[in-house]
Amino acid sequence: MRRVLLLALFAPAAFAAQVTDAAAPPTFQRQHALVRMVRQDCGACHGMKLTGGLGPPLTREALADRSIESLVATTLYGRPGTPMPGWHSMLSVGDAQ
Ligand code: HEC
Repeated sequence: MRRVLLLALFAPAAFAAQVTDAAAPPTFQRQHALVRMVRQDCGACHGMKLTGGLGPPLTREALADRSIESLVATTLYGRPGTPMPGWHSMLSVGDAQ
């Protein structure tokens, strides 16, 4: 998160472009911040190694037969009626992909 804030401070034009172009692939700095977020925030429920906990495992093998659209939808909007929250306020479509 700090890296993203630093990026916002030092390169406001690049940051604004990233936010408005919702499906653009994340920059290197953003990818770094996303990996940390997934380990910490998603790891709280899906396990620190994403091998499962309260939520199911999010490993490559476990998600192999899921479509990208379904994974993006679950990540951004959550699963109503389950503890899986939606993350659309913190992630763009490009981030989730
Ligand atoms: C509060 C706990 C919690 C947190 C935090 C959480 N999840 Fe989940 N997640 C769940 C639960 C519970 C399910 C299973 C929902 C169901 O029963 O369908 C789930 C399901 C999922 C699925 C569907 C998996 C499948 O097998 O279809 C994905 C993808 C997913 N979560 C991604 C994420 C990501 C990415 C994050 C972090 C940005 C995250 N989750 C954070 C609880 C959580």
